[in-house]
Amino acid sequence: MSTSVKKQLIAALFEANNEFLSGQALAEMIGCSRTAIWKQIEELRKSGFEIEAIRKKGYRIIHKPDQLSENEILMGLETSVLGRNILYFDTIDSTQNKANEVARMDAPEGTIVIAEEQTSGRGRMAREWHSSKHKGIWMSLILRPQLPPEKAPQFTLITAIAIARAIEEVTGKEPEIKWPNDILFHGKKMTGILTELHSEADKINFIIIGIGLNVNQEMPDFPEEVREIATSLAIENGKKVSRVILLQHILKNFEKYYQLYLEKGFGTLKVIWESYVTSIGKSIIARTISGEIVGKALGITEEGVLKIQDAEGQIHYVYSADIEI
Ligand code: BTN
Repeated sequence: MSTSVKKQLIAALFEANNEFLSGQALAEMIGCSRTAIWKQIEELRKSGFEIEAIRKKGYRIIHKPDQLSENEILMGLETSVLGRNILYFDTIDSTQNKANEVARMDAPEGTIVIAEEQTSGRGRMAREWHSSKHKGIWMSLILRPQLPPEKAPQFTLITAIAIARAIEEVTGKEPEIKWPNDILFHGKKMTGILTELHSEADKINFIIIGIGLNVNQEMPDFPEEVREIATSLAIENGKKVSRVILLQHILKNFEKYYQLYLEKGFGTLKVIWESYVTSIGKSIIARTISGEIVGKALGITEEGVLKIQDAEGQIHYVYSADIEI
């Protein structure tokens, strides 16, 4: 009951667009008592909302906290599927673990698991992913495309494009994409993507796309060992960024590109991806689990696999690696 009163109260106060709404009017709109309204106003204040209250006029929101809660995300979200089912946690070990768990229990396509903080965030190659509280977007998205498993690497690239576009829309700054899964500014990593696939021999059951996006960290917020190689959007942008707005843009772009991909295939997206990418045409070192490949990055295949030509002219197809440019 009170969660739903709270949701409706936030929606009503936002829709009032800075106008005051009286306790009585709110109670009638929501269908509860004035005492219930007053209690929820107090709850909202405790969770960081600044709400002005004036006798005979009522209430209005002055400031809402930059929280990634379900209400905040849903308000103003322009998608039909992605992000419509939200599992929000203040603290969690890893959103990726939770998403795996709920995907096995039939969580619908587009479900997102999101947390203010992760205590055991996971990166690629079993690395730790530092996920400090309220500073970033730590999220896992569940998709259920009816496709063969070999298409899975393309999802990392679709994710990267959706994030890059969202960053441009929100900040006006253009990031670089480093194959397969990093988003950088001036050579420093701002976002990592961890795509995990659950499939049968010929079809995908579900894909979990983990996104770790450094949004509002200042340099001291990063552990010392990554300060040389990591950055945040706030550092690059010179000011803080609303995580909610950024997330809404990511989901909107993701849904658009995902639909385009399902309808038309990877071709159009490959062109967009290449417009952001920094490593193509350059000499690179690809560190894979089976060893290093040194050569020139030629581009990606239609499946999203990296093509490298070594000094002997031999072409290598790389599915997963750390790239050094
Ligand atoms: C990388 O190594 O670049 C990928 C990092 C992915 C981190 C994200 S944060 C949300 C999700 N939960 C995790 O534990 N990992 C991913």
